[in-house]
Amino acid sequence: MASELMRLSGSSSTLARLKSTCPGTSDSLEGTLLGQVQGKVAIVTGGGASGIGAACAATLAREGAKVVVTDLDDAGGQAVVDRIGGSGGTASFLHQDVSLEESWPAVIEAAERRFGHLHVMVANAGIGIMCRAVEMSLAD
Ligand SMILES: NC(=O)c1ccc[n+]([C@@H]2O[C@H](COP(=O)([O-])OP(=O)(O)OC[C@H]3O[C@@H](n4cnc5c(N)ncnc54)[C@H](O)[C@@H]3O)[C@@H](O)[C@H]2O)c1
Repeated sequence: MASELMRLSGSSSTLARLKSTCPGTSDSLEGTLLGQVQGKVAIVTGGGASGIGAACAATLAREGAKVVVTDLDDAGGQAVVDRIGGSGGTASFLHQDVSLEESWPAVIEAAERRFGHLHVMVANAGIGIMCRAVEMSLAD
């Protein structure tokens, strides 16, 4: 199993570094991300849908991270957080419009106040606009 872990993590020195910086790193792979986010604190913006953000939030929580989910959609965000909690993970929801620069300090402060640190940012929130870049307005 150790040799398999070394193969996946690149080399024995990579494994040693991983284990020294991430004390939770497991010798057992079993579908995990090698403990890389164990105990870390992550913000996932746009995590309140059934999309990529929600999947990122669930995956991070499953791997041991404490996750702050932000979204415009309060009901969707709370549902994602409830699902994570129901699966034994740790997450909380904050309403945020990521396009408002002034929304960021409060979100970062809230994450640090709630969980003590901030290590990971998944800047996922967004919308797709199907047009040529030159036709986009600043508001887009
Ligand atoms: N799905 C794809 O094929 C694809 C392809 C390329 C890029 N992307 C990008 O990946 C990201 C996620 O895609 P998805 O398909 O999961 O989208 P989704 O629409 O399922 O989820 C996006 C989430 O972002 C939230 N959101 C939108 N604007 C926001 C804002 N201003 N502030 C806070 N939250 C906001 C929405 O409420 C929603 O919960 C998006 O940024 C999208 O543009 C997706």
